[in-house]
Amino acid sequence: MATNKFLLHTLFISFLLAAPQCYSDRPVLRATMTRSEKTIDFTRAVRRSHERLSMLAARLAATSGDASAQAPLQQDGGGEYGMTFSIGTPPQQLSALADTGSDLVWLKCGPCTQCAPQGSPSYYPNTSSSFSKMPCSGGLCGVLKNQSLAACSAGGDECDYLYSYGLSKSSHHYTKGYLSTETFTLGTDAVPDIGFGCTTMSEGGYGTGSGLVGLGRGSLSLVSQLNVGAFSYCLTSDPSKSSPLLFGSGPLTGPGVQSTPLISVPSPSLYSVDLQSITIGNVTTPGTGDSGFIFDSGTTLTYLAEPAYTLAKAAVLSQTDLVRAPDQDGFEACYVAPSDGSDTAAPPMVLHFDGADMVLPVANYVVDVGDGVVCWIVQKSPSVSIIGNIMQMDFQVLHDVENSVLSFQPANCDNL
Ligand SMILES: *[C@@H]1O[C@H](CO)[C@@H](O)[C@H](O)[C@H]1NC(C)=O
Ligand SMILES: *[C@@H]1O[C@H](CO)[C@@H](O)[C@H](O)[C@H]1NC(C)=O
Ligand SMILES: *[C@@H]1O[C@H](CO)[C@@H](O)[C@H](O)[C@H]1NC(C)=O
Repeated sequence: MATNKFLLHTLFISFLLAAPQCYSDRPVLRATMTRSEKTIDFTRAVRRSHERLSMLAARLAATSGDASAQAPLQQDGGGEYGMTFSIGTPPQQLSALADTGSDLVWLKCGPCTQCAPQGSPSYYPNTSSSFSKMPCSGGLCGVLKNQSLAACSAGGDECDYLYSYGLSKSSHHYTKGYLSTETFTLGTDAVPDIGFGCTTMSEGGYGTGSGLVGLGRGSLSLVSQLNVGAFSYCLTSDPSKSSPLLFGSGPLTGPGVQSTPLISVPSPSLYSVDLQSITIGNVTTPGTGDSGFIFDSGTTLTYLAEPAYTLAKAAVLSQTDLVRAPDQDGFEACYVAPSDGSDTAAPPMVLHFDGADMVLPVANYVVDVGDGVVCWIVQKSPSVSIIGNIMQMDFQVLHDVENSVLSFQPANCDNL
């Protein structure tokens, strides 16, 4: 238990070489992400995505200049992804919401009768030999204390956190409990001493799993704690399959790899990039530039701020050769679905990032919202711009935290 390949390898690199690290030398840890439902209910997806957008924007406004912004997580059943992994000794297998928009990892602990989400299994510390409470002197406790999100109790033996999502004044979206450490098992690799929140009370919408796995760029996140430098996911468009989530995967190789720098606007803890322009058919419109475009696993739709939204929408409307259907649920470019199921009537769509082009499959931006209607998946944002999980489907997306680069490549996710 005390020695495993991962730990030895990390120690070797960190202490013997003491040289700049190359993350591609580290082992790859494999987990999976699974969408909570096979068919997305777009009415719920819109509501959930919109709430996530507005609370994220409110929080960013409230903490501008502060690296600690956390994204909120709202409403279940709108196309979110759960990450499957095991925790403890012997391992307890759980699934928890995979969220690149926040950092803290937390799980419902014990009976947790006043916890959201309800109905999902809990982690039981009392049946694990590798569980420990994190003392107040623990490094991650210091990170939370610095943000006034934790306090010491039990004479310094316990670090109690209250971590809220969205507006700090909101009392209805939070998780609270005590910080702990455990062995996390990803695929076949056991990694000891991962700090996480043992939650005893929570409110809010966190999917259908047992908590949340923060995959952001801050020090509390699973990505930072695994010290892997980079992680990637490939969200499959096949609803019957799960999607690979790889920690420590090296630079993407082969045809079609595109890379763009991560930028620190609107927050250095998010995976934001410079969207310079958008080509729809034969029309190119401005992107969101250095205001940022956030790659987010936890939002289902895609949002563009003005004027990017209205100009891109006009390009879609003027070049789509289908019968218009009424606007619905914030979608403003809807059409009667072609009876032959063809998608060629929609103009091609390409996102141009700083140094990288993303040529989108039609299924990534024209979605079937039911009742014979298809809609362009982009909606207007009054604040931040987000590329949601549908638009990222069938690409391997590498989040290279160490080098502040985001890369992607068209991929058959089942082959990774
Ligand atoms: C662990 O705690 C739960 C609930 O608190 C209890 O039902 C269970 O018996 C305990 N298990 C052990 C091995 O102590
Ligand atoms: C907490 O903040 C202080 C002062 O800004 C800083 O010196 C310290 O490194 C921070 N600790 C952690 C764990 O972030
Ligand atoms: C762009 O495409 C439209 C039809 O979709 C066509 O009418 C127009 O001439 C094209 N413009 C250019 C500059 O190619």
